[in-house]
Amino acid sequence: MTVGRILIVDDEESMGQFLSIMLRKEGHTVKAVNSGAAALKELRGSGYDVVITDIQMPKMDGIQVLSGIKAIDPTIPVIIMTAYASKQTAIEAVNKGAFHYLDKHAKNDEIKMVVRNALEVRQVKVENTDLRRALSTTNTLTTRAIIGKSQPIQDVFRLVERVAATDSTVLIHGESGTGKELIARALHEQSHRAKGPFVTINCGALPENLLESELFGHVKGSFTGAIRDKDGLFKVAIGGTFLLDEIGETTPSIQVKLLRVLQEREIIPVGGTKPIPVDVRIVAATNRDLDKEVSLGNFRADLFYRLNVIPVDLPPLRDRKDDVPLLVDHFLSRYQDHYPGGDLPAVIEDEALQVLCRYSWPGNVRELENVVERAVILQAGSRIAVVDLPEKICGGALGGDEFRLSDSGITLEELEKRYMIQVLQETSWHKKKAAEILGINPSTLYRKIKSYGLQGGDLDEESLETEEEVLS
Ligand SMILES: Nc1ncnc2c1ncn2[C@@H]1O[C@H](COP(=O)(O)OP(=O)(O)OP(=O)(O)O)[C@@H](O)[C@H]1O
Ligand SMILES: [Mg+2]
Repeated sequence: MTVGRILIVDDEESMGQFLSIMLRKEGHTVKAVNSGAAALKELRGSGYDVVITDIQMPKMDGIQVLSGIKAIDPTIPVIIMTAYASKQTAIEAVNKGAFHYLDKHAKNDEIKMVVRNALEVRQVKVENTDLRRALSTTNTLTTRAIIGKSQPIQDVFRLVERVAATDSTVLIHGESGTGKELIARALHEQSHRAKGPFVTINCGALPENLLESELFGHVKGSFTGAIRDKDGLFKVAIGGTFLLDEIGETTPSIQVKLLRVLQEREIIPVGGTKPIPVDVRIVAATNRDLDKEVSLGNFRADLFYRLNVIPVDLPPLRDRKDDVPLLVDHFLSRYQDHYPGGDLPAVIEDEALQVLCRYSWPGNVRELENVVERAVILQAGSRIAVVDLPEKICGGALGGDEFRLSDSGITLEELEKRYMIQVLQETSWHKKKAAEILGINPSTLYRKIKSYGLQGGDLDEESLETEEEVLS
């Protein structure tokens, strides 16, 4: 998250205006209010990512605003603005959970940077809270069903079952949206650590110094702004599983530190000297080919081998198309539960399903999930039809895997011919059905079959219907 929604609380209007203008220029959405009460009301009404509040205000001061915000949403970082005289109170605020304090005369760049850091921390927290919430709702195995009957995904399930019982480090590799996080969570839930925490961090989302302190924690005074000791996520994950997502994005210095954790099973907080033992099962995920990154010198070989104890390779959806109809069903019923009440569709028309099956799904299961959700929300009739699908995917209806734009120089006639063949094959040369799909008269189809000289697979002339039959 680089831009976000920011709420400014200051009884001094000019200060609120100044901050608004500066932060809007950065691309943030900003609202300024002039009292603590107004701020809490605003927060209850709409979503914000970060709050910046003055500390000295009549009626409700910054500390009270802070505890009000924590009560509404503890994941929103609160930045305290202070004049020199109130620094002591600012420190108190940080001890009470404020993200940071800033001098009112701080340089613009410093303010912008603190806001950016706050947004990044906010994102990490949101991701972790979502997970905790998901976990606390049910204690049964897999909180979220993992769907898949195809051989490649069944192989993955079996592997997960086998390694869940161990404490071995697992490296999950797969394209974006293939379900890496879902598999990591399943691994946790099937392990003896299931009752412990499942913690995740996106190593690619934070700048190095912030990532380091999020991972390992820091001790008071180790850098400007480190006003109190802070536990890292490794410590939070003790007794449970820690998913290091996007591990391929880590810098060499973080890689060295992670290697140390894997070897020694202990961490040293930033600025600290005393190692803390951490009993954590580590799962790493990446969409990069780490083997290749190692040979390119971008990833430490020793860390790779420590992580790659058990490799789990998640196949892209295009290699397990058998799963598409199952996943569609699954998401249909899930979104139907999400939007109860209306006459929402439980069904998808065959033709639309075929379109979905033909598409190549570069964004994998996540893309499919989004398409189904969109269709459920947007569809006008009671069934999802081809028209309810995004154009990008219907484009596939004109050829799917068979036609690509790279087939340059193709004539309209050739395109028509190929599309006809495809539809005929799909309907097992049932010409009446094919004509319907093609939106033309059966007689026209018959004529075109003749003029293009098309023949149905190994069907011989005799078994082809006569023109009369087609027209009847
Ligand atoms: N086999 C599956 N059954 C049901 N839902 C799935 C399956 N695989 C993935 N999903 C859903 O698809 C979405 C993407 O999955 P997930 O976040 O685990 O992917 P990812 O590989 O971590 O992606 P990224 O690399 O983009 O982080 C999630 O909403 C997840 O619930
Ligand atoms: Mg992921």
